[in-house]
Amino acid sequence: MSRLIEGRIVAEKVYAELRGEIARLKASGRTPGLAVVLVGDNPASRAYVRSKDKMCRDLGLHSVKLELPADTTQEELLQRVHELNGDPAVHGILVQSPPPKQIDEAAIVRALDPAKDVDGFHPANVAKLALGDDSGFVPCTPLGCQRLLIESGIEISGAHVVVLGRSMIVGKPLALLLMRKARGGDATVTVVHSRSNRLPEITRSADILIAAIGQPQFVKAEHVREGAVVIDVGINRLEDATRKQGYRLVGDVDFQPVAAKAEAITPVPGGVGPMTIAMLLANTLTAARSSVH
Ligand SMILES: NC(=O)c1ccc[n+]([C@@H]2O[C@H](COP(=O)([O-])OP(=O)(O)OC[C@H]3O[C@@H](n4cnc5c(N)ncnc54)[C@H](OP(=O)(O)O)[C@@H]3O)[C@@H](O)[C@H]2O)c1
Repeated sequence: MSRLIEGRIVAEKVYAELRGEIARLKASGRTPGLAVVLVGDNPASRAYVRSKDKMCRDLGLHSVKLELPADTTQEELLQRVHELNGDPAVHGILVQSPPPKQIDEAAIVRALDPAKDVDGFHPANVAKLALGDDSGFVPCTPLGCQRLLIESGIEISGAHVVVLGRSMIVGKPLALLLMRKARGGDATVTVVHSRSNRLPEITRSADILIAAIGQPQFVKAEHVREGAVVIDVGINRLEDATRKQGYRLVGDVDFQPVAAKAEAITPVPGGVGPMTIAMLLANTLTAARSSVH
């Protein structure tokens, strides 16, 4: 049986570091502030926003939770973003995805002040990541995956990392991050997606396999080399009438058979998920440290 990479434990270590830094920032008269904007009432989004707000409060950050109705217009949302851009108590802004259909999400992201874009989705931050300029913000889930590997003592440099999925939120920025010429980078990265030929053959050649496709239990033992490290980013709800909430969470990896083959593996829940929030708060502190207010 493989080693379990426990995101909750690594996230606690990150929070312990953040607490020290928050205390120092507060002592210098600067309380880091994060604003999370939720449009509509998607239950999963609501749950994410609640846990982000709770974590901010636990750590003593200034937390702004803006809950807007589902029929909010593009202009109204842009107005709120402009207000938050100009609010000196807010150092980081996150607009929870996915917004309702009438909202042009890309335009909202472009309206964010790049210096407050703690999700790292603004084109200026995406460009910095691609250019290897580390003054920008890197998206939180890729950053969390990288930190998990580093904290678990897994050598990234020189390893063949296969990333399953090419989204702008996870797959693509993760590939850029892990191939960066820097600590926690220098990997040989292959990205596979829904149009890739010979997918199992490619995934079997991975030293580190990272699954981010949103397909419940897609990765089977036959996709994984004996002794590989497996990071499961997927969070999928499977109907389960035996559970109080009517569903259970599973990843993109078929955990039991893959764990029997892997050297180390993340669970779902409790793997990458807790790291995403920890990295969001770490990015918020970075924003507060570099702000002029
Ligand atoms: N743990 C966390 O904090 C966290 C954060 C974000 C996301 N997630 C989870 O991670 C998963 C991925 O999220 P996402 O936002 O990146 O998803 P997404 O935007 O839907 O992108 C999915 C990617 O996977 C690829 N794909 C889909 N089916 C595939 C298949 N059968 N074979 C190969 N590739 C396939 C798609 O390929 P094409 O490009 O060809 O369509 C696409 O590139 C979801 O389960 C999501 O809930 C977790």
